[in-house]
Amino acid sequence: ARKFFVGGNFKMNGSVSSIKDIVNNLNKANLDPSVEVVVSPSAIHLVLVRDSLRPEIGVAAQNVYDKPNGAFTGELSVSQLLDSKVNWAILGHSERRTILKEADELVASKTKYATENGVSVIWCCGESLEERESGKTIEVVSKQLEALKAKVSDWSKIVIAYEPIWAIGTGKVATTEQAQEVHKAIREWLKANVSDKVADETRILYGGSVNEKNCAELGKQADIDGFLVGGASLKPAFVDIINSSK
Ligand code: 13P
Repeated sequence: ARKFFVGGNFKMNGSVSSIKDIVNNLNKANLDPSVEVVVSPSAIHLVLVRDSLRPEIGVAAQNVYDKPNGAFTGELSVSQLLDSKVNWAILGHSERRTILKEADELVASKTKYATENGVSVIWCCGESLEERESGKTIEVVSKQLEALKAKVSDWSKIVIAYEPIWAIGTGKVATTEQAQEVHKAIREWLKANVSDKVADETRILYGGSVNEKNCAELGKQADIDGFLVGGASLKPAFVDIINSSK
């Protein structure tokens, strides 16, 4: 069975003081030990979080580059993350794909470099509202997966997050049927294009307006193995989301 996974993507939010509050809240919470939890603060708070958060919770950067080091202003390297005991990264989030113009190929290249050098990756995919309304959801997600497959051969350090763009930060959560349909299609794609083993073992998370009220129903779907939570991960209710799969 796949281990349930809950990620918290803090995005560009938080101060030293508010991040310390979140860490303290997680440190004292009673967390379901069968759930893998990873939180992703802004780069400037990574070390603070890693040094103060209970060790069983993982920490993810929100980006990592595909070169070992050097003249790449503004980027973070895999070895810098590992040196600070941060061994996860979120890559391909729709905010980076659309606002920062990251192409499928760059996302795939960064995912390859990270996973081959010891950093696990929450790799995100998902369609826009326009793409969904024109019936292109599965096509769009398949194309994103194709670009990943063109570069990556070891999928063991990859967790997939399906995040429909229209559901992110909008309060418009996908219905359980809409989410399950795409998760199932992603698993079928993995089976057809990678292997039965990868299809069976890869966690597929849902992201987009997940909260403590809607998570239990989503988490019951056969192909939903957890969540990538944005806004609600900054609140105490994040603990309820982590514990929702019981
Ligand atoms: P919200 O939970 O705020 O909709 O954000 C989802 C997301 O983008 C997580 O990566």
